[in-house]
Amino acid sequence: MKTEHTIYFGDSVEILKTIPKNTFQLMVTSPPYWNVRDYGHSKQTGFKDTLQQYLEKLDKVWKEVVRTLLPDGKIALNIGNIYYSEPDENRRTTANLSYLTWKQLDRYKELRFMGTIYWRKTTSRAGAVLFGSYPYPSNFMISSAVEPIHIFRKIGKREISKEIKEKSKISLKEFREFRDAIWDINGVNDKHAAAYPYELPERVIKMFTFVGDIVLDPFVGSGTTIKAAKDLNRNSVGIDINPDFLPIIKEKVGINQKMLDKEAEFKVIHLNKDIKISH
Ligand SMILES: C[S@@+](CC[C@H](N)C(=O)[O-])C[C@H]1O[C@@H](n2cnc3c(N)ncnc32)[C@H](O)[C@@H]1O
Repeated sequence: MKTEHTIYFGDSVEILKTIPKNTFQLMVTSPPYWNVRDYGHSKQTGFKDTLQQYLEKLDKVWKEVVRTLLPDGKIALNIGNIYYSEPDENRRTTANLSYLTWKQLDRYKELRFMGTIYWRKTTSRAGAVLFGSYPYPSNFMISSAVEPIHIFRKIGKREISKEIKEKSKISLKEFREFRDAIWDINGVNDKHAAAYPYELPERVIKMFTFVGDIVLDPFVGSGTTIKAAKDLNRNSVGIDINPDFLPIIKEKVGINQKMLDKEAEFKVIHLNKDIKISH
């Protein structure tokens, strides 16, 4: 089965506006962090934004995601909390991004909440900086090494043929593993500073899409979602503001290598010029 993968470089809202409604079966993403990380692009979301600006920008993305999702399409949003300091204090406060973004999604009348999966990062460096008032009470910093993945569905129904259902079957072992609310998965050390582990999009793609569906990641970074979609015979669309990530994506997804087992076609679209790389 030949799959198609399109990588757009530009702002996710601008690009999503060009995509017709009812296109994607799943959006899986981890948005840029608020305030702490520089992804190296002047128009990036999060870095140097106030919390309010950051949330407003994300909400514009959700609006387009909701529009472009198919009926019964799913959202899997992975976002962790962030420590920051208020201007009048040296001490740290936690920005509850997990709750704030959940609240944003929950406000869409087209969406219904399905539950939250907690990804417990089994290897995390967070422990090293969490000493607070150690060895004394009373300032314990609560670890942010558990990141939620909020799952929502778009209301409506979709007919799937028996043949496609059969091709998309999940084993009993996986069914049991995936429905667990806590996922113990190692964090990754990647060339891209904020990549999520392959297992994360892999699992949600298996759980919420059928073979041949289109998966969207509006903050695709190093292309982890594209790789998982390709491996699982799903199509994908990935968007990132920073074209400098293209070599990292190519390496991760294996775009330059000969694909012996199956065929996949890749398209890279920069705001104004198209480059097509196909196999
Ligand atoms: C947390 S990273 C995603 C990492 C990805 N899950 C992976 O596995 O590599 C967030 C990404 O959002 C991108 N980004 C920031 N602002 C953006 C915007 N306005 N439109 C599209 N992408 C943006 C950043 O360049 C960064 O690569």
